[in-house]
Amino acid sequence: MAPAARLTLDPSFRIGPVEPRLFGSFVEHMGRSVYTGVFEPGHPLADADGFRADVLELTRELGVTVVRYPGGNFVSNYRWEDGVGPVADRPARLDLAWRSREDNSFGLNEFMTWAAKAGVEPMMALNLGTRGVAEALELVEYANYPGGTRLSELRRAHGVDKPHDIRLWCLGNELDGPWQMGHKTAGEYGRLAAETARALKRFDPALSLVACGSSNSGMPTFGAWEAEVLEATYDMVDYISLHAYYDPSDGDADSFLASAADMDHMIGSIVATADHVGAKLRDRKQIKLSFDEWNVWYQSRFHGESSLEWSEHPRLIEDSYDVTDAVVVGSLLITLLRNADRVGVACQAQLANVIAPIMTEPGGPAWRQTIFHPFALTARYARGEVLRVEPECRTISTAKYGEVPAIWATATHDPDSGELTLFAVNRDRHGPCAMEIELPAGTRVVEHLELADQDASARNTASAPDRVVPRPGAGLALDGRRATLALPPVSWTIVRFAPLTARSAP
Ligand code: AHR
Repeated sequence: MAPAARLTLDPSFRIGPVEPRLFGSFVEHMGRSVYTGVFEPGHPLADADGFRADVLELTRELGVTVVRYPGGNFVSNYRWEDGVGPVADRPARLDLAWRSREDNSFGLNEFMTWAAKAGVEPMMALNLGTRGVAEALELVEYANYPGGTRLSELRRAHGVDKPHDIRLWCLGNELDGPWQMGHKTAGEYGRLAAETARALKRFDPALSLVACGSSNSGMPTFGAWEAEVLEATYDMVDYISLHAYYDPSDGDADSFLASAADMDHMIGSIVATADHVGAKLRDRKQIKLSFDEWNVWYQSRFHGESSLEWSEHPRLIEDSYDVTDAVVVGSLLITLLRNADRVGVACQAQLANVIAPIMTEPGGPAWRQTIFHPFALTARYARGEVLRVEPECRTISTAKYGEVPAIWATATHDPDSGELTLFAVNRDRHGPCAMEIELPAGTRVVEHLELADQDASARNTASAPDRVVPRPGAGLALDGRRATLALPPVSWTIVRFAPLTARSAP
């Protein structure tokens, strides 16, 4: 059969290094992300700190590298001081973002202990909605200053002797959104972000700072917001943020499967906007992108914050993901890697229960959703340098994004081990795609796995947690420098290649 798709894997076609921070996640005080998600004292598997050991184990398996905390919308009305010190003294508060009662039994120091156990870097969001420069500086002093000042000594009195030394800070969250507590215009936010960044860089010039971009690409000020904010903050921030959620619920499966085309276009638009500002300011510094909220979210099933009844860690947006959703998540990860020269941080939103790869039952089990698998395998095997991969293949017509290539792919090359890894999706719902891959001479196949199913709507549940798992792919043939395989319809595939002769250790 003649191949329907062709691509070349060449280690000299380098885009940039695989940035470990691309495999980030997000823990927000929202629904059951924290409470009964990562933290459940009294659960049979809770450790001495009240963290669920099963969730910690799955977090490590997922390969998460950095975790954004504590929000999200939650942070814009949050007082970090409420979440530190003796738990009995912490006040209960109203969380206006999610109309929830927050008892503050989990806060900064608990999160940092959890992050150390999970082996992840913290990415801390500051409240620039209802608060400002002074409170941001106080939090940084509490968290990062060694000792001898009021707030650093307060931290030590709270049992944390050494500073947390948090390197990555978000200057607020989605402040362009009218749903945000303390919503601002681009001018108001740009000024506040600049003043906060200036103060934080005076405290420690090596902190990495993320300015808020638009909440999504459909915002009326998308593009203009980023330009105005970056004009105010360019020399003081390192990243501009992007957020995007893709909703399968309108039944347009071809457009949904092509969501990566939208993410790719969005990244290109913000790169162009940031570089335009750099050119105007005659500044050669390159702003990086922090795609710090992305995922599939059945958003139209959520009727808005105002529809929520006041409650305590309710079941909020606990979407159950199917095979198609996992293929889309795999394609979004491919897009992040394809843009590794400009995207420096990315966080899938969220980690547990709330639109999450990990689900839990209070007092019960934890399991992997379908979307867990492409994330875990990409985080594990994307190593070294991202390679430019441009499949030649047919296109699919979509209502939302026009013609998109049926195959979406990327690859990485690890110069130390010589391993070449291909990540590819077939977005075609109607049939397999025969693919031919041209490889460097002297290559062997290490592993070929795919996520696909006769039933693209199959899901994992508490009672059938492994209904959908990656399985060894069939029919991959290697003949000299040419590999052939067939990608099933609606599938995500990983193929690992290595040099025939093992590299000797340096
Ligand atoms: O991840 C859920 C919510 O989506 C976050 O709180 C907010 O930042 C975004 O709108």
